[in-house]
Amino acid sequence: MIPLLAAVIGYLSGSVPYGLLLTRAAGLGDIRSIGSGNIGATNVLRTGNKKVAAATLLLDALKGAIPVLLLGWLWGRDAGLIAGIAALLGHIFPVWLGFKGGKGVATGAGVLLAASWWIGLICALIWVVMAKVTRISSASALTACACAPVIALISGDLRLAGFALVLVLLIIWRHQDNIRRLLAGTEPRIGKSK
Ligand code: G3P
Repeated sequence: MIPLLAAVIGYLSGSVPYGLLLTRAAGLGDIRSIGSGNIGATNVLRTGNKKVAAATLLLDALKGAIPVLLLGWLWGRDAGLIAGIAALLGHIFPVWLGFKGGKGVATGAGVLLAASWWIGLICALIWVVMAKVTRISSASALTACACAPVIALISGDLRLAGFALVLVLLIIWRHQDNIRRLLAGTEPRIGKSK
């Protein structure tokens, strides 16, 4: 019963589409018809409003981190990890948007930071370095994500490595269009729509 409850709570937390709600509230239109059409912070930044993009990043990360921390504290680590995967699924497949949601980077980062703050921090630093070098959000996210299960494996935490692998596979799968554009050399730089 606890795993199921953890999954439902995690999913509901992750399913709140903050990028869509905040851009609408700020009068910036429907984020799904701007740039890549994604509801995440990278695309919100394409509206030109840095504050709304930063708020989207923060809230998308928190909706992943809070269920992991709260349910992990209440019901143990496994319940927290289940809630984390469910929160990522909620963000990618939100029932409120016909199961068409975001790509999971900020929410996945929040989940990972809550599950292991130091692995989350290393991955966040990898993202920052890659973003400085490439100026491409998806390439930075994919590189940082791919490192998470490897670092967990090296640290000897097999459970966390398996958990991180599930997160990463979901995020990579959701970046298929970005990967195609990266290979074609047409993926836009951060803040640009083309
Ligand atoms: O965080 C999502 C990012 O990796 C790609 O977003 O809008 O460029 O497809 P976008």
